[in-house]
Amino acid sequence: MCSYKTESNNENKIKRRKFLSIVGNSATGLVTFGALAVTIDFLSPNVIKERPPKFKVGPIQNIQPDTFIYEPEYRVFVVRDGNGAFYAISAICTHLGCNVKWIDSNIRNDSSVAIACPCHGSKFNRKGEVIEGPAPKGLQRFRIKLSDDDLIVDTSDIVSEEEMYLKV
Ligand code: FES
Repeated sequence: MCSYKTESNNENKIKRRKFLSIVGNSATGLVTFGALAVTIDFLSPNVIKERPPKFKVGPIQNIQPDTFIYEPEYRVFVVRDGNGAFYAISAICTHLGCNVKWIDSNIRNDSSVAIACPCHGSKFNRKGEVIEGPAPKGLQRFRIKLSDDDLIVDTSDIVSEEEMYLKV
């Protein structure tokens, strides 16, 4: 009876030792893996990928006269006026940077509100000029060009009203 108890105790000790060994090895593996992940993250360069300033709008036929499209990634309206000319204006309010909304695409004159900012109520005409504040200035206008049959907007090239139209 006594030898049976000793044998059983030895088996329990072995099981416990095996269990503790598995737990210990797992913990060591986890710590090593975590340290390795942190080291790799530390050594890899922190690169912020900026999108290119130019983007392709597509063929001119995609935008009919007196309509516009909105490019959400760049927050830009690409507009074709009633005469068929194209222009691109920013959808970023010049007050505090909210996204403005095109509220009336049927506007045919420059004295009516076509674009509004939902944040503090600034209003702009269809060319992005301020009609009502608090926006201190008009929406930015970007160079728009034709490359083959595609419209290209360059958001790094801010232009004046005189330069903003692309007549095709
Ligand atoms: S952010 Fe547009 S009015 Fe304030």
